[in-house]
Amino acid sequence: MLLVRTVAEWRAALAALPRPVGLVTTMGALHAGHRSLAEAARAECAGVGATIFVNPRQFAPTEDLARYPRPLDADLALLEAAGVDVVFVPDVGVMYPEGFATTVRVGGPAEAGLEAAVRPGHFEGVATVVTKLLLQARAERAYFGRKDAQQAAVIRRLVADLDIPMEVVVCPTVREPDGLACSSRNAYLTPAQRAAAPALFRALSAGRDRFRSGFQQRERLESATRALLEAEPAFEAVEYVAAVDADTFAPLQRGPGLLVAAVRLGGVRLIDNVVLD
Ligand code: PAF
Repeated sequence: MLLVRTVAEWRAALAALPRPVGLVTTMGALHAGHRSLAEAARAECAGVGATIFVNPRQFAPTEDLARYPRPLDADLALLEAAGVDVVFVPDVGVMYPEGFATTVRVGGPAEAGLEAAVRPGHFEGVATVVTKLLLQARAERAYFGRKDAQQAAVIRRLVADLDIPMEVVVCPTVREPDGLACSSRNAYLTPAQRAAAPALFRALSAGRDRFRSGFQQRERLESATRALLEAEPAFEAVEYVAAVDADTFAPLQRGPGLLVAAVRLGGVRLIDNVVLD
């Protein structure tokens, strides 16, 4: 696996790969969810590129940019084992050189509340860096996880709106054996919080089962799921629970859609979702 640090090297390395090329963008601190994205790209594409870049523009000043884990050697080993051909690890100055003055602001799902409301500015940071990463790479496909479903909807929207010639592939959420969705931020959980955390997926799964059994009135589905989450004492706040359209993130009118939720345990936020089908 080749490691490159400049845009020119990255472009040259990807241009030399056989087509189609699959791209996996990450912020490092990689886990089984990232590995599944790299493996999907490896299985479906002739060449695979990955990026590791902790993007400061998608963190609010109050968030965890400074303490975000950066285990580079372990990340490189995981990507290499998954069959990645080239990895791009730029410095902040490579992505945002002196004078950088452009922001990509997406409407639609990026202005539909939920993550956008709890993390103002977050999707502008994500859209700006993802647009750069996609245009730098000029890959045929880019792989994202469904755990960050609103982010995936924002990326699908921007790729369609800006005519970026790339297929966005959204892969299933990878979970720990007890149901907790894999996330780099799970490392912040104390043992007691970690033990309580699967209650998020249990509540969402119970909501999905109710939906499947015909209990489809949106407000009642949301309030029943919220009640389950509020019954978990370790969840200090239930930030949102919503049944939404998977593309627009507007309130779900009729299925299929997603049931999404975010909870807070101490300083840690957990987000997750299930498909309402
Ligand atoms: O999902 C992530 O890891 C990040 O938001 C992304 C897409 C790599 C952009 O920094």
